[in-house]
Amino acid sequence: MRLDKFVSSSANLTRRDAARAIAKGRVTVGGVTVRDGALKVTEDAEVALDGAPLTFSRYIYLMMNKPSGYITATEDARPGERVVSELLPPETARRVFPVGRLDRDTTGLLLFTDDGASAHRALSPKHHVEKTYRFTCTPPLTDEMIDALCRGVDIGERDGAGNARITSPAKLSGDTITITEGKFHQIKRMFHAVGSEITSLCRVRFAGIELDEKLTPGGWRCLMPEEISLFTGGGDA
Ligand code: URA
Repeated sequence: MRLDKFVSSSANLTRRDAARAIAKGRVTVGGVTVRDGALKVTEDAEVALDGAPLTFSRYIYLMMNKPSGYITATEDARPGERVVSELLPPETARRVFPVGRLDRDTTGLLLFTDDGASAHRALSPKHHVEKTYRFTCTPPLTDEMIDALCRGVDIGERDGAGNARITSPAKLSGDTITITEGKFHQIKRMFHAVGSEITSLCRVRFAGIELDEKLTPGGWRCLMPEEISLFTGGGDA
């Protein structure tokens, strides 16, 4: 592939910014400065930008600290509605999609990628991928409510025969709850089912990846190699 493609994909730069960085002599291949973006390199080439080694990835993986007031949809936004993809550079936003959804008023960890297979795996109920949320609620949870949430509750889902589909067991620890399902408004409906209402919800962990609390609301960054590996299940990204 061309060097400018390698640099733009692995450093998450636009093709134009990658070409500029190369022309300015900021890129080395095998330790040698190269100013020609058209140079052909292999996926395992030793490429560095400003001295920092770059690892080629076929896909883009990002995390965002989703702010409140933004919807996660990509297509069904109504006029005037703010959409999370607006917070990404347009060239990146055109390539990636959000991995699952968070409600408009939910904040925290939202992943974006163009790796459809890994996103599908992370969202598939059969893989039981954990999602942890920090919450506030009113009234506060009693021991009985906590027990019920941990065991599973009826949030109105029915199977083909009309029987209640109880939510899978959840884990509660202080002000966090961990679930492995992803039904519409799931946490809010679970709390409602036990007689409490969610007053704030922030996703702090998904698929073993922690929200980077250094990201300000609306801020984003590329996933680090260990995080990519957690998300792809250690597969070849
Ligand atoms: N559960 C909810 O109720 N809302 C979210 O945004 C995520 C999980």
